[in-house]
Amino acid sequence: MPRKRTYLLCPPEYFAVEYVINPWMDTATPVDRELAVKQWHRLRETLLDLGHTVHELTPEPGLPDMVYAANGAFTVDGTSYGARFRHRQRAAESDAHRAFYEAYGWPYVAPTETNEGEGDFTYLPEAHGGLILAGYGFRTTAAAHTEAQEVLGRPVVSLRLVDPRFYHLDTALAPLDDRTIAYYPGAFSAASQRVLAQLFPDAVLADEADAVAFGLNLVSDGRHVVLSSEATGMAAKVKAAGYLPVPVELSELKKGGGSVKCCVAELRA
Ligand code: ARG
Repeated sequence: MPRKRTYLLCPPEYFAVEYVINPWMDTATPVDRELAVKQWHRLRETLLDLGHTVHELTPEPGLPDMVYAANGAFTVDGTSYGARFRHRQRAAESDAHRAFYEAYGWPYVAPTETNEGEGDFTYLPEAHGGLILAGYGFRTTAAAHTEAQEVLGRPVVSLRLVDPRFYHLDTALAPLDDRTIAYYPGAFSAASQRVLAQLFPDAVLADEADAVAFGLNLVSDGRHVVLSSEATGMAAKVKAAGYLPVPVELSELKKGGGSVKCCVAELRA
């Protein structure tokens, strides 16, 4: 069953590929910003049409990756654990998120450890009594996982990412509902694959083609699975598992190394 969600997005008004901090970015490939804005608005409309609440951050010049709002914080039980970006080019984004959560009236805890918010953290309220899954290896540090557990009071399962193409957890794993995940095993270390198999025996397994098409960078409300229109294989898999795929086109934002989920932070009360 779908559950109404509250999301935070940021329009790609200043989106560009001006530096390279992941293997998808190439400053020589032109970005059609007008198209990026159009595609982003379709994504926003899609979430609104599904009945969700969408809040917006004000984009800032000089922060071309700010559209990837998932990276700004990680919120569980009404508390936000703030981000501390790995790369200086994005460092200033966390202040905008902090200001949003403080105005929203939710406790915000500034981190001391490097972490990129929902890029590397996700939460399954009904898996094993409420479980945080967290990625490390490229951006977020394992020390931040410990810090997040201490701040949020939910058990954190640390998973090691090993493929630079899937540098954030949300490029390799996604909740489909409150207890079920989809993931691409090849993005994780052998030991982390065993951990995932033990905790989630009923997971939907993606292959490399699904992951490369950003098919795991999805946003689900428990029934509707919003994902990149490129990820046709993944759409078929989630449909076979009983969900309703909702494809959206995000070709321009892929040039920055992100898709649907990267653009969407969830505010969990
Ligand atoms: N260019 C951005 C970066 O490399 C993309 C962030 C994608 N966000 C995500 N949640 N995976 O930081």
